[in-house]
Amino acid sequence: MPIAMCQHSLYVKQMFDRGSCTYTYLLVDPKTHQGAIIDAVKEQLERDLRFIEELGIELLYIIETHIHADHISSAGYIRQKTGAQIVYSQSAAVKSIDVELKDGDELPLGHYHIKAISTPGHTNGCMSYYVDGMVFTGDTLLIRGCGRTDFQQGSSKDLYNSITKKLFRLADDTAIYPGHDYNGNACSTIAEEKQWNPRVGMDKSRDDFLKIMRNLNLDLPKKINEAVPANEGCGINFNPHLYIHDDFPMSELYKVWQQKNPDNLIIDNRTKEDFIDGHIPHSKNIPFGTELKHLQELKSFKHIYIYCHSGRRAQTALTNLTIMGLENITCVSHSGLPQWIAMGYPVER
Ligand SMILES: [Fe+2]
Repeated sequence: MPIAMCQHSLYVKQMFDRGSCTYTYLLVDPKTHQGAIIDAVKEQLERDLRFIEELGIELLYIIETHIHADHISSAGYIRQKTGAQIVYSQSAAVKSIDVELKDGDELPLGHYHIKAISTPGHTNGCMSYYVDGMVFTGDTLLIRGCGRTDFQQGSSKDLYNSITKKLFRLADDTAIYPGHDYNGNACSTIAEEKQWNPRVGMDKSRDDFLKIMRNLNLDLPKKINEAVPANEGCGINFNPHLYIHDDFPMSELYKVWQQKNPDNLIIDNRTKEDFIDGHIPHSKNIPFGTELKHLQELKSFKHIYIYCHSGRRAQTALTNLTIMGLENITCVSHSGLPQWIAMGYPVER
């Protein structure tokens, strides 16, 4: 028998994943017991399914605010268990989902409607969701912060517009429920963030915001190479070894280089300055984060090899290019140019 819930408003259960500091939300109409889950985390699958069962929820939707880079979603598994529909923004372009939303679309949930508000910037496919005086902002607007914009087609300009022209136009007393919090805060309001958000609050101009975002210098999320492709498949049936060739050392790249096959391309994805300083002869410099601009050109090669300094940026570029539909990419994932030099291979300056 479902337990009684607050009878006057949409019931919201906020749940936390310590590993990724992610908030997952269960929304339930207390009268019909129809519900939705937002941003479910794979490691918390058992917990979430238990709550859904204990609260007698008829789960209609598994909603994602965006393609997460820091954790793998359990959306695919929850769909298998409950039959609920997976919901994303159309702009996220995730395959094998059930509902694609555009800005302004509404999802009926019992006596409520969940309204989609397109808020690109952290990624190009971010969607916030408004219902019953609350907005679930994903990583677009955090408590006294906001999501980063330096990968997954992020844009600080878009993020500024999404926050100031979309979210800040909601009523001041709208409760904000973010996708993450790293400081133990649970929720905020539009009025609070308009006043106190240090990146985009009252005294900050658009230029201030862009400057702050340019200078964040954050490390990449540890799980990005695994999480992004996995979430492209709703979190299931992902084999990272299809994407990351751990066994591809520099000596193998040297063999490829010696073949001088015009159908192959070797990409150096370090910065332009690093490239000028010394690189593998005939490699092409496509600095990390600019892959999209070269997509058409890259499609003309049969095989692409990527290296950087340590292997980290090469892995992430591989992930990004795979998501964009390129196949036959290999990266040198655990070393980079210093090893090429140490092995006595030629360097061009
Ligand atoms: Fe994110």
